[in-house]
Amino acid sequence: MNRSLHSVREKSLVFIGFMGVGKTTVAQLVAKKLYRDFVDIDHEIEKEYGMPTTEIFKSIGEAKFRTKEKEYVLRYCKQPLKVISLGGGAFMQEDIRKSCLEHSIVFYLDISWDSWKERLHMLVDSRPVLQNRSLEDIETLFNERKSTYEDHNSKLMTDHINEEEVADYIIDSVKLAWELYS
Ligand code: S3P
Repeated sequence: MNRSLHSVREKSLVFIGFMGVGKTTVAQLVAKKLYRDFVDIDHEIEKEYGMPTTEIFKSIGEAKFRTKEKEYVLRYCKQPLKVISLGGGAFMQEDIRKSCLEHSIVFYLDISWDSWKERLHMLVDSRPVLQNRSLEDIETLFNERKSTYEDHNSKLMTDHINEEEVADYIIDSVKLAWELYS
């Protein structure tokens, strides 16, 4: 049964993938090119608490962050005409997965472990989930999450293309879906 609230053309676009893959930048570019509103879920949570994610994890705790994350994703993914960037851990929550796949179009930005680990040094200070973990632990997390991200509508390997090219590819594929399914 199709319980989706909006037509394919109106559905919001949701970006998933591991930390630091470029979801926010790509989603921002796509939103601009499609004249849609951009929503960054982490930013919404940070605005509500008035502090960065690292601080929320420290003083309020990850559990509360995940509850807020679910609240915001479930609210926005049901709205039409948004482009939404999810934090890398959001899709691990079943309710978030189900709701995004039901109401929006989910794009998975993939990256190989070899390319990703080159970025680790730029990410670690702002990503509490990466702190105090060995490289082996992070690789395990990377691989575990990969299998959950496989629940998507469309996937793009981003290793050898820049964010502008990723955004253009996504827009072409969205337009094709509009033509085929509207
Ligand atoms: C997290 C990813 C972060 C942010 C938080 C937790 C995760 O978002 O939501 O630090 O569990 O992977 P990005 O994927 O935008 O870095």
